[in-house]
Amino acid sequence: MGNQCIGHLLLAQDHHSDLKRMPAIVVHTAGKSILFGEHAVVYGHPAIAVPIPDLKTTVTIFPLIREENETILYEAPDIGICENLSDLPKDNILVYAVALFKNALDIQKIPSFRLKIRSQIPLASGLGSSASVSVAVVRALSQFLGLKLPISKINEFAFELEKLHHGNPSGIDNTVVSYEKALYFIRGLEPEFLQSPVPMHLLLINSGIPSLTAQVVAAVRQNREKNPDMVNALFKETGDLVSIAKTAFLDGNIVELGNLMVTNHHLLQQLNVSLPELDVLVDIALKNGAYGAKLCGAGRGGNVIALVKEENVHSLRQILESHGIQEIVHTVIQ
Ligand code: MEV
Repeated sequence: MGNQCIGHLLLAQDHHSDLKRMPAIVVHTAGKSILFGEHAVVYGHPAIAVPIPDLKTTVTIFPLIREENETILYEAPDIGICENLSDLPKDNILVYAVALFKNALDIQKIPSFRLKIRSQIPLASGLGSSASVSVAVVRALSQFLGLKLPISKINEFAFELEKLHHGNPSGIDNTVVSYEKALYFIRGLEPEFLQSPVPMHLLLINSGIPSLTAQVVAAVRQNREKNPDMVNALFKETGDLVSIAKTAFLDGNIVELGNLMVTNHHLLQQLNVSLPELDVLVDIALKNGAYGAKLCGAGRGGNVIALVKEENVHSLRQILESHGIQEIVHTVIQ
């Protein structure tokens, strides 16, 4: 923890008991998973994403009412950071978010505060840890500043933060986290929300192999530059598959959705973003009661998502655990 934070925490505890009574702003946001269409979505094809409310990011803002000069502290204990904003690089998410708000409000100075981020979402795992933090920071700051921003505006700001670290994001991650609803997404268009008439039991199976979205997206871009016909054809096929998946989702046709997930995984293999470890997890899921399974997110690591018969959830989890998989999240989407 940086000295700045320790100093301010002690000050609050020892001398400023009124600070302890100041209401903190607490915001929770979900994780996400891409059900269909990752990578192709970057190039304008549709994709379907679902929120994962079982994995949460929590952002808390503690007002520092006694600070006359603008003092902003950034605390992220999960990654061992606690610093004064002025000591952080320009590409730090809070530095950028504060600048965005000042610019939007046309103000030079904002009231002092300490912002703390905690997240249950594993980093670099394809489950939206960065989008979840971006949306939470924007929502918390807008509440702290007394703004009643619509979700579309929160999403717009969060997208700006996502661009900081993801180079060329499609915007699907921040959109599904902002609205916390399953959605059909085409870059640059309003999302279409999807509701299934039946519950869908999903298992998120963490391969434990970290993968940075920006790097995989860049590798796909290079692949597309070298082999435009092949990669564009894969994207087109993915987009067509997503349109069929949208109808299956709305109809609650779980069997078809499962088959489409497997086809989507094969397309991602051809795009060279799978790994043998991910293929093995897909196979285990398919042999043990899943309707379908595929890698989710950028790939080259991260998670596999499996659509599983409710009665098979427990046994599949046990089988995966017997293969050494430690992080499995069960979530139900409707
Ligand atoms: C990452 O969750 C999904 C990708 O398609 C990247 C993006 O859409 O920005 C790989």
